[in-house]
Amino acid sequence: MTDLTPTNLFGLDGKIALVTGGGRGIGAMITEGLLGAGARVIISSRRQDQLDEAVAELSGIGSVEAIAADCSTEQGCKSLAQAVGERTERLDILVNNAGATWGAPLQEFPDSAWDKVLNLNVKGVFQLTVALLPLLESAATSDDPARVINLGSIQGLQAPDIENYSYSASKAAVHHMTRVLAKKLGSSHITVNAIAPGAFYTKMMAYTLDNFGDEIAAATALGRLGQPEDMAGVAVFLSGRGGSYLTGAVIPVDGGYSTTL
Ligand SMILES: NC(=O)c1ccc[n+]([C@@H]2O[C@H](COP(=O)([O-])OP(=O)(O)OC[C@H]3O[C@@H](n4cnc5c(N)ncnc54)[C@H](OP(=O)(O)O)[C@@H]3O)[C@@H](O)[C@H]2O)c1
Repeated sequence: MTDLTPTNLFGLDGKIALVTGGGRGIGAMITEGLLGAGARVIISSRRQDQLDEAVAELSGIGSVEAIAADCSTEQGCKSLAQAVGERTERLDILVNNAGATWGAPLQEFPDSAWDKVLNLNVKGVFQLTVALLPLLESAATSDDPARVINLGSIQGLQAPDIENYSYSASKAAVHHMTRVLAKKLGSSHITVNAIAPGAFYTKMMAYTLDNFGDEIAAATALGRLGQPEDMAGVAVFLSGRGGSYLTGAVIPVDGGYSTTL
């Protein structure tokens, strides 16, 4: 008989996930959600001290461990994939969350801001996904595919008010790469979807929200900023059996900021 209970639809017992940038901000919100649903989660970012703090904080919720890596280089992505492979024979869920931004006026926008942002936000997402394909394929079945979840942004859906040229372009690229990879990997039983967040209070958004948070909340149909539950909820949905027939989707999680323009 079909099992439509929440435990079957959204429970993640026995699943293994990797969340890049999982030690803080949106990555930590997603990690907490996946842990709460029963997954074992490996978090990764560059700073070991931050990872250690996050592991200490989150280990009360579930099985969490950390691997330090730089996802902005091909070698960093390959080393991370290898280190994950030394800990598990399969990977059910890959969350490509690590990201960087840069703001500067048009005429002063430096060349280095293109390299820094595109290397991590676009090339890193591609390279890490490719490097982890064998582990994702080991987890994938037609009934319950392996999942790749990429972090895009509503700034890749609409022209932003702030001058972050390489960032908004990188996020539009993430959205399209999500569709391209979804098409390519469907036959391997791997889904690829993107979450396009609106404004969530994190280190990346601290300056913007400290200065324009009220304005942004007021321009949002639901009248508020994003909260950890909003991000954890969509990540758990995309990771669970109940989200397994979705691929190539770009889901705005923005309280209506972009969808009601
Ligand atoms: N917050 C928002 O409102 C918002 C809105 C739309 C989209 N997003 C997207 O959501 C994702 C997370 O953003 P956030 O707001 O949580 O930002 P954040 O607080 O700045 O966190 C970024 C994470 O990425 C890691 N990271 C940065 N560079 C890295 C590298 N080269 N290699 C590996 N890890 C690296 C950081 O750790 P280390 O520095 O220690 O490496 C950190 O854990 C990003 O993709 C962002 O574009 C956020």
